[in-house]
Amino acid sequence: MTKHAKLHAWVEEIAAMTTPDTVHWCDGSKEEYDRLVRIMVDEGLATPLSGNKLPGCILFRSDPSDVARVENRTYIASRTKDEAGPTNNWIDPIELKNTMRGLYRGCMKGRTLYVIPFSMGPVGSPISKIGIEITDSPYVVVNMHIMTRVGAEVLEVLGENGEFIQCLHSVGKPLGDGESDNGYWPCAPLEKKYISHFPEERTIWSFGSGYGGNALLGKKCLSLRIASVIARDEGWLAEHMLILGVTNPEGEKKYIAGAFPSACGKTNLAMLIPPIPGWKVESVGDDIAWMKFGKDGRLYAINPEAGFFGVAPGTSMESNPNAMKTIDRNTVYTNVALTEDGDVWWEGIGYDAPGKLIDWTGKEWEAGRSEGPAAHPNSRFTAPAKQCPAIDPFWEDPSGVPISAILFGGRRPTTVPLVHQAFDWNHGVFLASNIGSEVTAAALDLTAGTVRRDPMAMLPFCGYHMGDYLKHWISMGGKTAAEKLPKIFYVNWFRKAADGKWLWPGYGENSRVLKWVFERCAGTGKAVETELGYMPTVDAIDRTGLPGLSDADMKELLRVDREAWLREAELIRENYALFGDRLPKELLEQLEALEKRLGK
Ligand code: GTP
Ligand code: SPV
Ligand code: MN
Repeated sequence: MTKHAKLHAWVEEIAAMTTPDTVHWCDGSKEEYDRLVRIMVDEGLATPLSGNKLPGCILFRSDPSDVARVENRTYIASRTKDEAGPTNNWIDPIELKNTMRGLYRGCMKGRTLYVIPFSMGPVGSPISKIGIEITDSPYVVVNMHIMTRVGAEVLEVLGENGEFIQCLHSVGKPLGDGESDNGYWPCAPLEKKYISHFPEERTIWSFGSGYGGNALLGKKCLSLRIASVIARDEGWLAEHMLILGVTNPEGEKKYIAGAFPSACGKTNLAMLIPPIPGWKVESVGDDIAWMKFGKDGRLYAINPEAGFFGVAPGTSMESNPNAMKTIDRNTVYTNVALTEDGDVWWEGIGYDAPGKLIDWTGKEWEAGRSEGPAAHPNSRFTAPAKQCPAIDPFWEDPSGVPISAILFGGRRPTTVPLVHQAFDWNHGVFLASNIGSEVTAAALDLTAGTVRRDPMAMLPFCGYHMGDYLKHWISMGGKTAAEKLPKIFYVNWFRKAADGKWLWPGYGENSRVLKWVFERCAGTGKAVETELGYMPTVDAIDRTGLPGLSDADMKELLRVDREAWLREAELIRENYALFGDRLPKELLEQLEALEKRLGK
């Protein structure tokens, strides 16, 4: 047991406020995991899956109101509203704490308070951060077991007075005497949900939701919202990025990071299998990257997570075989459909539903007869990263992997070409600051299908003023020699033809773009200079073995639509107005330079 006095005092303070029946300190063991799973199965909260097909796997169905992050209940409660900036929700921290204390009072009645010591990044590494999550959700505990490194070693590293980030979570549903959840996922109604961050105190208070990024506080709350503030202060980057390694047929390897908004293809890109002979891709991470300059002046990235919390629908042996092989054991499924023989199914799994299903709401479901999808569009799997057949040998290296290129992108059915390369760092920051994307199902309160600006794919995850964040990115470019900086690329897998079909096959075929990126970093890739940046010549993207894609298709994918870009420039200017005088002047200069190149 730890002798960390401050930690004990905090746990006692929270227990006194929330009045749980018991307190359990998590040790991260398999025994603990299995015991919690058994309890949840007995209470009807979890369904064990077929031991033959999916050994060690379980299925959860959440409340239909609690299926994704809730951005309009997510708060950055810095001392002043100005520090949170125009893109974050803000409430005065004292007022918010008062409100939340009222909600937390007695909220764990009838439940167990779990204390989860966890490390983001390898345990004991100098770049890792320790968090302690207090939660009353055993679902959160088992997910944290997979997504982070949990256990006694973390407390050892913490010692008697080590620093930790306080992460307080409750599902917000106290139980009456003798009452149990009775098979129903506990959570609080929307107006009582709060996902709150106190950046100056490096503290997280979450109430009312049991789902994903709202409840697994090591992920978006700690590793992005709080870490982005620490990174600003300490001169590094905490980003919503996948990290992968590409090896060419000669055995040379380069690491690439990539930021795309939620549900825009990070997991799929991180795990892809290249169809081009001799090329190999390995994954370091699929969602979050912490990047710091090394002694050699290059940017190094670690994945602070230990698992994948991935979107299930659309994942198939064809689209992402590595993911399918990662999630065939020891995996927690949430809101997918259940088959009669204890297997899982979702839309886009690659084969028809085998007979009657139980859908994500717990009702019988039959293809062609039942309304709505069988699996929720934001249904997810939680699986250990080490189970991925393509996990990179250096994925847990505490010094990180050197990043040669950074990709940015979003879902843009029009305007944005398949790939273009920034002229230099500041131009790259400009491209990244203007990521636009069609909204997906990963957040509850946004209208799917509309385009929103999402700088660096960090709009919902930046813990401070977005204008200052952009300044921080600009300043990072001055910290090392220009040739040591990663090269920046803007990609768009989602351009559509007039008939609404994807112009680009995507998924594994995206490796053809990775190959060009690799070659650009090696100084060999063929490119032309355009108004937008460097772009591949029509023959520069390897299309061998891809018969469906003609030169004409390629030209369309790479077409610079001048009219559309003039409109785009106007939209960029409109969006920049949001940041007022906090917008770095370098970005305005970039916008003006773009307009000039477009002949405005
Ligand atoms: P988060 O976990 O929410 O951060 O999502 P993500 O960015 O990891 O996205 P993911 O790889 O899970 O993909 C989300 C959705 O986009 C899935 O439905 C995929 O099938 C689809 N998708 C991924 N890559 C491609 C692609 O290259 N082309 C097309 N058309 N769809 C893709
Ligand atoms: C995302 O929405 O970007 C996710 C899922 O990765 S969640 O953990 O819910 O944030
Ligand atoms: Mn994500």
